[in-house]
Amino acid sequence: MTTENDLTTRERVSSDVQSEAAPPHGRFYVFEGIDGAGKSTVARRVFEKLTASMNRKVVLTSEPSDSWLGDCVRRSHREGVSPTCETLLFVADRADHTERIRKWLENGAIVLSDRYYASTLAYQGAALKPFLGEKSVEWLKSLNDPVVIHPDMTFLLLIPPETGMKRLSGRNERTKFEKVGFLREVDRIYRDLAEEDETFVVIDASGTIDEVTGTILEAIKSNI
Ligand code: TYD
Repeated sequence: MTTENDLTTRERVSSDVQSEAAPPHGRFYVFEGIDGAGKSTVARRVFEKLTASMNRKVVLTSEPSDSWLGDCVRRSHREGVSPTCETLLFVADRADHTERIRKWLENGAIVLSDRYYASTLAYQGAALKPFLGEKSVEWLKSLNDPVVIHPDMTFLLLIPPETGMKRLSGRNERTKFEKVGFLREVDRIYRDLAEEDETFVVIDASGTIDEVTGTILEAIKSNI
């Protein structure tokens, strides 16, 4: 069983867990959205609320992960690699991360992940479009398919890309993905994914953090 010591800093487990009370299979919820949508803040808030109210282990994790494979992804951002190479690094990190997620779920935990495979479909789908055209998303789906566990729900936090850019302007570090034209394409792919997959829950993220958190908590509680 995973202990708190096995976890990296971004992978937190609630402490006062009575694991014998937990059902054998966990639940897996993912937070997605363009940069500036507020998903990291909302995921942390949902983690805190669930930890306080559920008699069950809750794990908050994220991608890129905090493993050495996640470090490779971050290094590739800094040093610059081709969009195909970057894609394969994100998917390699996910393959390893998924094994950790699988163990938490087998132990009955509620696992919350700040980004998962839909990020690759949306971001690398947009980055690969100049090379592969509309085929890019299909290629990414087939690449991710054997690697992922399908989430119980994916919360897609939607804001206009221009609003996302404004929210980001206070931050010092910008990733190369944070350009409005690019984010519009990312947003389009996310919306298409939500239309074709009924486990996606579309959330209007222009409301307050409390409103967005409340909506997601209700959805989770009705699914558990
Ligand atoms: P982000 O969630 O913004 O991390 P941080 O907490 O460091 O701000 O993710 C970093 C960037 O990586 C973000 O612009 C989205 C991008 N990304 C992809 O392009 N593909 C992926 O598969 C993932 C997981 C992230």
